[in-house]
Amino acid sequence: MAKVSIIGAGMTGATTAHWLAERELADIVLVDVLEGMPQGKALDMFEAMPIIGKDVSIVGSNDYAATAGSDIIVITAGLPRKPGMSRDDLLTINADIVGKATLETLKYSPDAIFVILTNPLDTMAYHAMKVGKLPAHRVIGQAGILDSARMRAFVALETGVSVENINCFVLGGHGDEMVPLTKASNIAGIPLCDYIPAEKLEAIVNRTRKGGGEIVNLLKTGSAFYAPSAAIAQMVEAILKDKHLIVPCAAYMNGEYGLTDMFFGVPVQLGRKGIERILEYKLDADDKVAFDKSAASVKETIEALKGLVKL
Ligand code: 2OP
Repeated sequence: MAKVSIIGAGMTGATTAHWLAERELADIVLVDVLEGMPQGKALDMFEAMPIIGKDVSIVGSNDYAATAGSDIIVITAGLPRKPGMSRDDLLTINADIVGKATLETLKYSPDAIFVILTNPLDTMAYHAMKVGKLPAHRVIGQAGILDSARMRAFVALETGVSVENINCFVLGGHGDEMVPLTKASNIAGIPLCDYIPAEKLEAIVNRTRKGGGEIVNLLKTGSAFYAPSAAIAQMVEAILKDKHLIVPCAAYMNGEYGLTDMFFGVPVQLGRKGIERILEYKLDADDKVAFDKSAASVKETIEALKGLVKL
């Protein structure tokens, strides 16, 4: 059985474990600094396995040694946003947490693939890669699947069509400048821009961009966790099953889309080695403007990170 360790056993980390266990994908380790919390959640979840008939081990620990030999390390640890905060407001505190989690887990799983969820997402993925001196294909940021799922959900609400018929692609940084593509996104092959009236589509694009904030404002004490963790589970499954699945994720840019030395949300093909390749859309002028604006925003946060830590 493959092994997946999740660093941060809060709402997102624990719910990720839940989705993974339900799919019987891997033995799972939950690590958190809070004493007893990862152990309690892991034991509770493990005790559910006989009921759903899944044979996986689920262990909680405060010690990184428990993660030894992991195929995948998922980092969700860090503070979530509060109402009124942007993801970038979390930079200083979360850089510290993600840096430590990367180095500690690498000691015990030197060949693992890293899936990063902590915000500000693109910058934290960059940080993990640099701090861990990891090859680019082994660090993947979770954001595009989530943002695209939000757009798909809003399109389903608007049209009454099954979510399974709705294909959406949201690229760019995981911030309010993200780029929901309206021509490449489609319902059963029909471009969204031909299916949904322009002003309704614009409302969907705007709601998608602010989708994370909408949940933060409702929850007040935390951020979204069901959809983010479902997105991680899809990435983990694609990697462990070597599916060669194409999904939008944050990846290290080495000239793709004219971008260098940053993470950015683009379509990637995921398999057992992590990122197998990055696909390049032909962007039209409108999308290119939005793309460049989003890239500038991510670059700014990465520069702020470089001002905080020596990479
Ligand atoms: C979101 O968009 C937490 O950033 C995550 O909900």
